[in-house]
Amino acid sequence: MRPTVSFYTCFVLSLCLGLACVVCVSVWNSHWRGGFAWDSSSLQFNWHPVLMVTGLVVLYGIGAVLYRVPLTWGQNKLPWKILHAALMLISLVLSIIGLCAVFDFHNAKNIPNLYSLHSWIGIAVTALFAIQWVVGMAGFLLPWSPTSLRVLLKPIHVWMGGSILTLSIAACISGINEKLFFVFSKNPPYSKLPPEAVLANMLGVLIVAFGMVVLKILSTHEWQRPDSRPEDINYTPILQEENE
Ligand code: HEM
Repeated sequence: MRPTVSFYTCFVLSLCLGLACVVCVSVWNSHWRGGFAWDSSSLQFNWHPVLMVTGLVVLYGIGAVLYRVPLTWGQNKLPWKILHAALMLISLVLSIIGLCAVFDFHNAKNIPNLYSLHSWIGIAVTALFAIQWVVGMAGFLLPWSPTSLRVLLKPIHVWMGGSILTLSIAACISGINEKLFFVFSKNPPYSKLPPEAVLANMLGVLIVAFGMVVLKILSTHEWQRPDSRPEDINYTPILQEENE
């Protein structure tokens, strides 16, 4: 298969899986968990999974693979850098609102904060993401950041980007599992696999599949924007390379 055909197959697949994740988490929380509100009740908690999956998984994943779309390769890189930073900022803001929803709900119900493994992974990945955004913004978008800094930052930025996606998927899977154990602690038990649990399990599988496709796109060398490949960076003046 030609690289562009295989790329677009993966890219369209990632869009479809991302959409399926958003639909699935929204249906779960609106239909099975009673819907949404911002009043410190359990309805406020329901924003948490929806915003985390939409922000820190789907929007984040799509924002990460934006540079790989071959249609953008012949074009000026700067608008795509700005779009990448903007998508990541929206994703970060949605995640922070998603965290506020659960912290506020816990505080109102006197439930302790940050006790579970899920919450530790979750808070760590959100902090890493915020640091990654600020460092990426300062290192790659501010015109006065030196060339040597960009060359140093790039492999770290790419590695950290993939790690953040992997960690946010781990946070989602542990969060879904924890929620299902809370909901089905009594009747009916989780082991009877009620319809709601089937939907939530499916959401977990869709999130993992989405992550695998995005990580495949990120790790395929031929799908990198040609002027972003490490061997080309050695030969292209970086300021020209970054802003052309
Ligand atoms: C990237 C995705 C996610 C991140 C970063 C994340 C982060 C967090 C954090 C930091 C807390 C602790 C809040 C506190 O202590 O007051 C929390 C709580 C919680 N989250 Fe998530 N979450 C994510 C996705 C999900 C998903 C998809 C679900 C599925 C329903 C979920 C379910 C829960 C539950 C049940 C709690 C309350 C119990 C606990 O503190 O562990 N989370 N989350």
